[in-house]
Amino acid sequence: MTDRLTIRRPDDWHVHLRDGAMLEAVVSQTARQFARAIVMPNLTPPVTTVAAAEAYRARILAALPADGDFRPLMTCYLTDGADPTEIARGHESGAFTACKLYPAHATTNSAHGVTDIRALGPVLDTMQRIGMPLLIHGEVTDRDVDIFDREAVFIERTLAPLVRDFPDLKIVLEHITTAEAAAFVADAGPLVAATITPQHLHLNRNALFDGGLRPHAYCLPVIKRERHRLAVRAAAVSGSPKFFLGTDSAPHAVERKEMDCGCAGIFNAPFALESYVAVFEEEGALDKFEGFASEHGPRFYGLPLNEGTVTLERKPVEVPARVAGLVPFHAGETLGWRLAE
Ligand code: NCD
Ligand code: ZN
Repeated sequence: MTDRLTIRRPDDWHVHLRDGAMLEAVVSQTARQFARAIVMPNLTPPVTTVAAAEAYRARILAALPADGDFRPLMTCYLTDGADPTEIARGHESGAFTACKLYPAHATTNSAHGVTDIRALGPVLDTMQRIGMPLLIHGEVTDRDVDIFDREAVFIERTLAPLVRDFPDLKIVLEHITTAEAAAFVADAGPLVAATITPQHLHLNRNALFDGGLRPHAYCLPVIKRERHRLAVRAAAVSGSPKFFLGTDSAPHAVERKEMDCGCAGIFNAPFALESYVAVFEEEGALDKFEGFASEHGPRFYGLPLNEGTVTLERKPVEVPARVAGLVPFHAGETLGWRLAE
């Protein structure tokens, strides 16, 4: 039995680092484990300009010890008024690695999101031409659609036509949660990929109601039925280069989670690698972990693989009730692997 697993240094292809005091509190959790991270732009106000992305990157780096080498990869938040020239300029200068599409009102701080993706034609044409990835929060926002069906309906109504109309656009369907998403991505061409979070690998929707209402299991897209969890797990451990690590770590203050109308988001950064590796072990797929965590993402983005390695060892680790004053994913549980010092 393998007791140590050494892999190339991984990256997190979807994270919310927030801003201000919250940024200070959480950023080291990501920087400790990952060489790079795709940083979500859903601040208030959202990151929509090159200047805003550069300023945010500087705040992230200022919140970290100077001797580290963590690289935040910034994203541009698409709005109905998104400007193709600004986006192309930002991509060329390295200020923007990708653009993020939130359907308006789909999730936290998405009020400025896109109301009609068809109206973004010139932006998408530009992105396609310059090879800039489009990262999608794939849920319809139509209140008539059951919340558990919103991803599958988005794929049918919006994503399938988008892929057809922009065949050369690189698309990442973020944080997939359903069998439909896993199948769509697997069957699409090589320019369509997906990120997968730890919570969608570990939890099914029973976790939301386990002996009572569980706000710390609530994120968007909401966790789904068991059959979907199994399909997402199968995709993650399949070895397919289309599926890669993206934690969607989304910290919220405890009182904003445990309230009448609690925020969506799971703070999984502190034990992210430990959480993922547990799944790969359970699936008998430890040999596929390095591809998922460290290779498929950079290859899709056209970025170099990281130098250096991290080692996980088979030793129990207790996840505390609080990390940085927040409730982490797996709080109070014991995980079977931990990052070696
Ligand atoms: C994210 C957040 O809190 O910013 N929440 C979440 O549940 N994942 C937004 C998002 O990625 O949908
Ligand atoms: Zn997210």
